Amino acid sequence: MAIIISASILSADFARLGDEVKAVLAAGADWIHFDVMDNHYVPNLTIGPMVCEALRKAGIDAPIDVHLMVSPVDPLVADFAKAGASYISFHPEATHHVDRTIQLIRDCGCRPGLVFNPATPLNWLDYVMEKIDLILIMSVNPGFGGQKFIPQALHKLAQARTRIDAVKRDIRLEIDGGVKVDNAAAIAAAGADTFVSGSAIFGSNDYAGTIKAMRAQAYSSSSSSSSSSSS
Ligand code: DX5
Ligand code: ZN
Repeated sequence: MAIIISASILSADFARLGDEVKAVLAAGADWIHFDVMDNHYVPNLTIGPMVCEALRKAGIDAPIDVHLMVSPVDPLVADFAKAGASYISFHPEATHHVDRTIQLIRDCGCRPGLVFNPATPLNWLDYVMEKIDLILIMSVNPGFGGQKFIPQALHKLAQARTRIDAVKRDIRLEIDGGVKVDNAAAIAAAGADTFVSGSAIFGSNDYAGTIKAMRAQAYSSSSSSSSSSSS
């Protein structure tokens, strides 16, 4: 499977958000990772559906990878679908009925994903592997950009990869938190195919160079290395 780089706009300059999104896509990012924080499920407050819609109205047509760090989840799903979300991922602890929330996302025309905090077990996947399109493994505790990668996430990635291979469905395996050029190879080796990166990209003064280097590192050790070049 091809490597996807999903640029987290949490670390972008919000005063120039549209330009930042266009710049990071022009620099080679595949998706835009859209972190939604509610000061309730996580201790921070960010952006909602109006901002997603504004990006679509500004002509952004890349996939928007919405990461909901909110509770409750369901009331925001339709709003984000209408606002142009592509994937909508949520934390299973943040909703009362996980299967219902997954179905709601699907019914709204988006691709559902489940997100796992560092201490959240993968058992939540047991009965929903046929219904989701993305598994997001958190390698930091959610709430802030710029945190340090928690290495135990590599073991969890490998376990999630085994589960995905067993069902033979096209489920993306995404990593989020502390992803940088110098750990991308280890992350890909553990089985990830989709890399969220915020501060490493937006904190660099060469978005294209950073994205290219991250992708090359990921391909250097991923099982999908034969499917694409490192450009
Ligand atoms: C953290 C967010 C991440 C964050 C990652 O709760 O879910 O998407 O933006 O930022 P970096 O890449 O700086 O760790
Ligand atoms: Zn995120």
